[in-house]
Amino acid sequence: GNVVRVGLLGCGTVGEAFAELLVERLAAVEDVTGIPLALTRIAVRDPGKPRSAGIAAELFTGDPYDVVKAEDIDIVVELIGGVTPARELILTALEAGKPVVTANKELVAAAGPELYAAADRGGVDFFFEAAAVAAVPILRPIRESLAGEEITRVAGIVNGTTNYILTRMMGENLAFDEVLAAAQELGYAEPDPTADVTGADAASKLAILSSLAFNQSVAADDVPREGIVDLDRVDFELAAQFGYVIKLLAVADRFPAEDGGPGQVGVQVFPALVERDHPLATVRGSFNAVFVNTDAAGELMFYGRGAGPRPSASSILGDVIAAADHLQRGTHRKVPVGAPAAIRPTEDLAYSFYIR
Ligand code: NDP
Ligand code: HSE
Repeated sequence: GNVVRVGLLGCGTVGEAFAELLVERLAAVEDVTGIPLALTRIAVRDPGKPRSAGIAAELFTGDPYDVVKAEDIDIVVELIGGVTPARELILTALEAGKPVVTANKELVAAAGPELYAAADRGGVDFFFEAAAVAAVPILRPIRESLAGEEITRVAGIVNGTTNYILTRMMGENLAFDEVLAAAQELGYAEPDPTADVTGADAASKLAILSSLAFNQSVAADDVPREGIVDLDRVDFELAAQFGYVIKLLAVADRFPAEDGGPGQVGVQVFPALVERDHPLATVRGSFNAVFVNTDAAGELMFYGRGAGPRPSASSILGDVIAAADHLQRGTHRKVPVGAPAAIRPTEDLAYSFYIR
């Protein structure tokens, strides 16, 4: 087939790792999939900044519209983050008939339906696998492998930074600030880590996961959240004494109506005491794990690295290949948009215990 030319928006913590991985894997991707990809242009805020030696200097531009509107770009990868200007740039690309891949959970959770509709109008894909549980394929399994299933619960650990902080605070008796600085150094944290430690990042991911799993629209603002900032040493000590570890959990339940109608959706992000021998208690460092409960399959567990530049780049590359394949075949996969969910709290999940 023709070369599929990739344009990148953003070359920071994740963007740089993605650009490096793409360049590294070009020949292997063509070998396995038959699709020749090329990295054609990269828009950044400051094109004068020194960049990775593995990325050709002439690719950089300071004008993101030179990516989203360019004739010589077939697929756009958005790794700027945040809502503005990412939203406008993505809409412009989709309206120009370019598939878009993003890792931007904040944006997808806030403006998903608007972006899905724009992609559908443009007849192209809008993929965001890296926006939930970075390296772990979970959105595509939910959308494709489980499309015929009835999913009743999605629950687990969906933020790498807080899991890393909790693991090291509990295991090594380190102070919050010290471990947060290490998480930033390792590229796990958001550019503003407030989103991680307050539970906002987990709330965005839970909104995305529950919307797709239940085919009802859940916005990030709908998700009640409590982060890890108010936890004290004494909480960790007491938890250990009684045989628990503390984990930041994200839980979404579907409560169907008696008459089989859509019913209600319970969503919540909260620090929980998890029994020491429960699989979630053994998820350490930047790893995440999500249980998906379905009618016919029963319980499934998705586990792997939930944060970090290179693990995220892996997911993004997978999306780019899927979008390139669809583009060459003149097809796209519509993101279903369910009606707004009626939200209720998950009151039965007490802060103090994890309900198995
Ligand atoms: P960074 O802040 O490190 O990088 C942002 C990049 O965008 C920089 O290269 C910056 O340019 C560029 N940029 C900023 N504004 C503009 C603009 N107006 N036009 C063009 N380029 C611009 O962000 P991260 O890499 O940490 O995060 C990127 C995304 O990845 C976020 O949505 C985040 O939530 C998501 N994500 C992060 C994961 C992780 O493990 N860290 C995992 C999964 C998703 P310059 O370099 O010149 O400053
Ligand atoms: N800051 C996020 C986390 C990155 O720590 O989980 C992955 O989405």
